[in-house]
Amino acid sequence: MNSFAAKARRQRERLAADQHRPRYHFLPPANWMNDPNGVIEWNGRYHLFYQHNPQGAVWDNMHWGHAVSDDLVHWADQPIALSPTIGGADEDGCWSGCAVDNNGVPTLLYTGVQGDWTLPQNQRVCVATADDDLILWEKHPANPVIAHPPAGMRVTGFRDPSVWREDELWIMAIGAGIRDIGGAVLLYRSVDLINWEYMHPLCVGDKQDTENVWTGSVWEVPQFFPLGDKHVLIFTAWDGEQLYTVYFSGRYHEHRFVPEAVHKLDFGDRHFCAPYTMMDSQGRRILWGWIGEDRSVAAQQAAGWSGLMALPRELRLRADGRLAINPVEEINSLRGAYQRLSDIELSADSSDFDIDLRGAALEIAAEIDPANAEEIGVKVRCSPDREEETRIFYDAVRKRLGVDRRRATLFQDSRVSADVQAGEFELSPGEKLRLRIFVDCSVIEVYANDHACITSRVYPSRPDSTCLRLYVRGQARVNSLEIWRLRSIWPSA
Ligand code: FRU
Repeated sequence: MNSFAAKARRQRERLAADQHRPRYHFLPPANWMNDPNGVIEWNGRYHLFYQHNPQGAVWDNMHWGHAVSDDLVHWADQPIALSPTIGGADEDGCWSGCAVDNNGVPTLLYTGVQGDWTLPQNQRVCVATADDDLILWEKHPANPVIAHPPAGMRVTGFRDPSVWREDELWIMAIGAGIRDIGGAVLLYRSVDLINWEYMHPLCVGDKQDTENVWTGSVWEVPQFFPLGDKHVLIFTAWDGEQLYTVYFSGRYHEHRFVPEAVHKLDFGDRHFCAPYTMMDSQGRRILWGWIGEDRSVAAQQAAGWSGLMALPRELRLRADGRLAINPVEEINSLRGAYQRLSDIELSADSSDFDIDLRGAALEIAAEIDPANAEEIGVKVRCSPDREEETRIFYDAVRKRLGVDRRRATLFQDSRVSADVQAGEFELSPGEKLRLRIFVDCSVIEVYANDHACITSRVYPSRPDSTCLRLYVRGQARVNSLEIWRLRSIWPSA
C-alpha cells in the first residue's frame, strides 16, 4: 500500500467509532467536503472528485479530493487531484467544475479563485489534464482560459463550469446571476477547450418571482442535459443565506432554454446541494449531491470531519415534466439482515407499532394504503424510552411529506435544527404511499413514490436510539414493510 492510501486508511480507522459518522455514504478519509465535482466513468471505473479541505473540517482552502469505484458503492481513496498553485489563477482555491473526455485525454475544467472570492471577477475558468490513470493532473499553461465575466455584464457570480459536446463544438455552461434581475446560466463555445467565446445566457431567472419556486440571485453548479424528450436544468439557488436545489424541465432550441416546469429537487433544502450529473456507460443519468452538516462549526471540528455525498440517484423524466428520482440499484448490494412484515392494520387507538429489527444503518421500504389516515409515518432513530425520535410523515390533510426533527436529539448544540422539513406531496385517488428510507447514523434520505426526496440530518445523543416504529393519526394499512440492515462500505469501519 502506498503512503497516501495508508494515511487515508489510518484517518478512516481513527474516525470509524464516531456514532454520527455515516457508514455507507461516501465521505473523505477526514476533514471537510462539499460539492461533488467532475464525476466520470473512465476505463470502466467511476471517478469521483469533490471539494475538499484536507487541513480541517471547515470550508476553506479548496482542493479536489478523488476516489474511485467499480460499483458506485465501494470507494478507494486516491491522492488529491488539484491543489491551489501559489501565484497561479487558482491560488485561493480550486472550486467546482467538471470532467470531460477530450479524445482520450481526461480533462478537468474548474473554477480558479485568486483574491477575494466574493468578487465574481476573481472566479475564473481553469483547465487541467491527466494521463490515463487520472492521478497526476497538470494545469494548462494558458490558465485561466476564461479570465473574466463577459464585458459589460453585471454578474453576481461566475463559477462552476459544466461542459458538453454539441457536434463539432464544446459548449460550456457557467453558473452566474445578473445583478438586480436573478440567477443565470451563461453559455460559451470552443473547439479546443482552451479558447472560449461567449455566446449569451442559456436562461435567466427572476428573483422577484413569488408565484413559482424562488430561484435566488446566483445559480451555482448548473447542470444541463437532455432527458426523455426534454431538457433539464438543475442548479443550487443561492443568495448568501438561503440555498436549495431547483430543477427546470423544458425546451432547448438554438442554444436557449425555455423552462416549462420548475420544482425543488429535494425538500431537505440546504441538505442536498451542489448537484452534479453524469451519463454512465449504461445510459443512466446519475445525480450526485453534497449533504452538509447541521451542527455548529465547533462540533464539526471536534468530530474531525464534515460533509458527505448523497447516494447516487438515477434520474428519469416523467410525463408530467417532473423528475423520477431513485437511488441507483447497486445500493441494494449493501443489504444484510432482513425483516419483512405485511398487512399491518394501524389505528390511532393502538400505540406505535414497534419493529424488531433495529440499527443505525438501515433501509426501509414500505407500501402504505393511507385509507382514513390524517397522518401516517415511520419513526426512525428512536430511543427505547421515546425521548429521542425522528418522524418521517405523510400528512394526508395538508398533503405534505416531511421529516420532523423536533425530538431528534437531546443534545443542546444550539445550531442543530429542531424543525420540520416538508414539501407538497399529493397522492392521486387510490394511489399507495411508497416510501424508501435510508438511515445512516446522522443521515436520512427519503424517497417517495419515485419523485419526492427529502435529505436530512439528525444527531441523536443516545447510542441506543436505533429503534423503528410505525404510527398513525386516524387509520391506515401497511401492505408491506421491508427492513434491511445495510453494511458499511469501508473495510475498517
Ligand atoms: C457550491 C459552491 C460552488 C463553488 C464551491 C466552492 O456549494 O459554492 O459554487 O464552486 O461551492 O467550494
